[in-house]
Amino acid sequence: MAHDTATFLLCAFVVFVILSSKMAPRSLSALAVLLLFAPASLGSSAVGLKTHKPFGIPNTFSSIAACVDEPLTFSCENTTAIRNTCCSPTPGGLVLQTQFWSTYTGLERKGQKLPKGSWTIHGLWPDNCDGSFEQYCDLSRQFDPTPGPPVLPDGTVVPPWKGPGIDTFVKEFGRHDLLDFMNKYWINQGAPNSDFWGHEFSKHATCTSTFDVACYGPSYKKNQDVVNYFDAVIRAFHRYPTFDMLAAAGIVPSNKTTYPLSQIQNILKSQTGAIPFLGCTTNGTVLTEVWYFSHVLGTEQYGAYKNVDSTTPSSCSATQGIRYLERTPSSEREVRA
Ligand SMILES: *[C@@H]1O[C@H](CO)[C@@H](O)[C@H](O)[C@H]1NC(C)=O
Ligand SMILES: *[C@@H]1O[C@H](CO)[C@@H](O)[C@H](O)[C@H]1NC(C)=O
Ligand SMILES: *[C@@H]1O[C@H](CO)[C@@H](O)[C@H](O)[C@H]1NC(C)=O
Repeated sequence: MAHDTATFLLCAFVVFVILSSKMAPRSLSALAVLLLFAPASLGSSAVGLKTHKPFGIPNTFSSIAACVDEPLTFSCENTTAIRNTCCSPTPGGLVLQTQFWSTYTGLERKGQKLPKGSWTIHGLWPDNCDGSFEQYCDLSRQFDPTPGPPVLPDGTVVPPWKGPGIDTFVKEFGRHDLLDFMNKYWINQGAPNSDFWGHEFSKHATCTSTFDVACYGPSYKKNQDVVNYFDAVIRAFHRYPTFDMLAAAGIVPSNKTTYPLSQIQNILKSQTGAIPFLGCTTNGTVLTEVWYFSHVLGTEQYGAYKNVDSTTPSSCSATQGIRYLERTPSSEREVRA
């Protein structure tokens, strides 16, 4: 409809211009460009419709029209202003995009390998503004086959999910593109990737208010929130290319060298504006994790993230050199080709 109106207005404008015919040659060539592009843009919108209808791929976006009238504020910066919790993550407004650096998966023989030249996704977490957090907030959306913890601090038992892997939900929505990306960059250790994805969704997304089932309105399609969350995780992950940010400053995996913690922190701060949490194992000497903290303006799925310093002190040694290990070559694969 909007396109039809636009076409009509464009044609009317062209006719008007031609009739008045007082145009400078340069304006006429600009007009020619307009005429060339108009059919192309109309054509692409027609193609868009065609690709959606035959395959029947349902939308997975939330229904947040009510947010239009809400005051806009960064999460954790004015919680009294947030009335509609579908519009801003609350109380979990300290949003963490977390990543791993691992050297193996344990399932290499099944083809579960790490992406060359990239850290891997851990998840997207809703911490409370003070750094504490909730977990497994909606057991009607419990898709984690191995809940951790199996019993919540208040004694609630989290029953293990016995149904199909959460990847089947993504397939039901026809999102093979999303699944393909997840299988490249969201890698589990010692168990199938989909177990990990189910864990992250049920432990964290169910505590993120902007993914509440109610935010999808009366036409909610079962598990559209799962797909919407996975899309949001991927979008957030793209904001923090840890491997590239470090490599750009000369920090590359090495089994021979160590790096000072402060150097790694300063590099990441210089690129993201804030100090992320860096996690180390082996008495704080082997780098394995990074958590990027942010406040979000708007929803977690579509909003603007503002990076803020970690509220958790690094578990890496500030005095010993940090090892950023090279991966076992057979544990990696090229995924960018
Ligand atoms: C917080 O939001 C409320 C409601 O929109 C507003 O009245 C108040 O001025 C805001 N406070 C700050 C510090 O921005
Ligand atoms: C950590 O350090 C302690 C004391 O130096 C040592 O006994 C222990 O084996 C170390 N642990 C690891 C995992 O390296
Ligand atoms: C680097 O060291 C780690 C830990 O010892 C090992 O797993 C990995 O295979 C090594 N990588 C290379 C390329 O030697």
